[in-house]
Amino acid sequence: MNNRFLDACRGLPVDRTPVWLMRQAGRYLPQYMKVREKCTFLQLCKTPDLAAEVSIQPVDILGVDAAILFSDILTPVEPMGLKLDFVPGPVFENPVRSMADVAALRIPEMEEDVPYVLETIRILRRELEGRVPLIGFGGAPFTLACYMVEGKGSKDFATIKQMMYGAPEVYAALMDKITVMLIAYLKTQIAAGAQAIQVFDTWGGVPSPSDYEKYVLPYTSRLIAGLGTEVPVIHFVKGAGTMLESVRKAGGDVMGLDWHVNLGMARDQLGSGMAVQGNLDPTVLYGPKPLIEAEVKRILDENGDRPGHIFNLGHGILPTVPPENAIHMVECVHRLSMRS
Ligand code: CP3
Repeated sequence: MNNRFLDACRGLPVDRTPVWLMRQAGRYLPQYMKVREKCTFLQLCKTPDLAAEVSIQPVDILGVDAAILFSDILTPVEPMGLKLDFVPGPVFENPVRSMADVAALRIPEMEEDVPYVLETIRILRRELEGRVPLIGFGGAPFTLACYMVEGKGSKDFATIKQMMYGAPEVYAALMDKITVMLIAYLKTQIAAGAQAIQVFDTWGGVPSPSDYEKYVLPYTSRLIAGLGTEVPVIHFVKGAGTMLESVRKAGGDVMGLDWHVNLGMARDQLGSGMAVQGNLDPTVLYGPKPLIEAEVKRILDENGDRPGHIFNLGHGILPTVPPENAIHMVECVHRLSMRS
């Protein structure tokens, strides 16, 4: 078993820096598109054999050190009672706007409502045994709330902020319910075999640092504390760079960094108690190859010889990236980080 990824999550020394890519299973891979032609994205998430197949593709094709469950952060929100579609971005037909809407949300019974997620994890553990560890994941409460309230992606997040400031009791009730759901959901993923959990807070950097502490952090902290210490937890907040100390308070073993921070400076600030993951600008993968190599080297050098670094992009891989450039990136990380 290649344990580099799990060892680095725990801050242990490794033979080479482990690497995986956020959104590594997806549309930039022709092999994914071939499977995806047969069904919609949601059908793919709900068909364990196919979901497992596309999760393993990047392990075979890129040589990454971890697999991530193929699903979406919004998968467990659908059985809460919101009608979900992808066009290709997510859309909820009946977004949450009032206390009555929050009250109507149900907490799913995981084995009954999202059996496909758990079955995908079980298949993956069987098929990956002896190769690489499996990462399970979920959205952070705030990022899920953004989609549930806005009803789709947003540029200014005006609707959720109106709720946050104008109806704080509705906001708190919603965040509370999402947090309870997520603890159950992610604990069930761990019980099914997920060997690490990543919490994606894609929109956590949208509020100001003081609003982050007030409206976001309390719920993420509760979520991460609720997961226990059985498996490492990676906490990725896009835009965390100006509030690393606040984000650290949420807990977890690894802090995901986007490309707006210098990884070495973030490590100096966080100290040795927290591993980090990141942080190549995803657009660097448009190449050329010597530039990709130079950027990989720069980030490895910023980390220096500190244990507890997992190489990754600073956000998800883009659908138009040439797969050979992603393969090159992984190869560069392994070659340039080889310890004697
Ligand atoms: O990392 C992986 O390979 C595992 C699978 C994964 C998906 N979504 C599959 C997906 C993961 C970890 C996610 C997380 C996710 N989903 C996040 C957090 C990470 C991030 O990128 O910020 C968010 C915000 C979502 C919500 C979401 N799902 C959006 C905004 C979109 C549309 C934009 C896009 O990339 O198309 C999706 C759709 C989605 N999720 C696709 C995939 C492979 C594309 C669907 C398709 O095949 O058409």
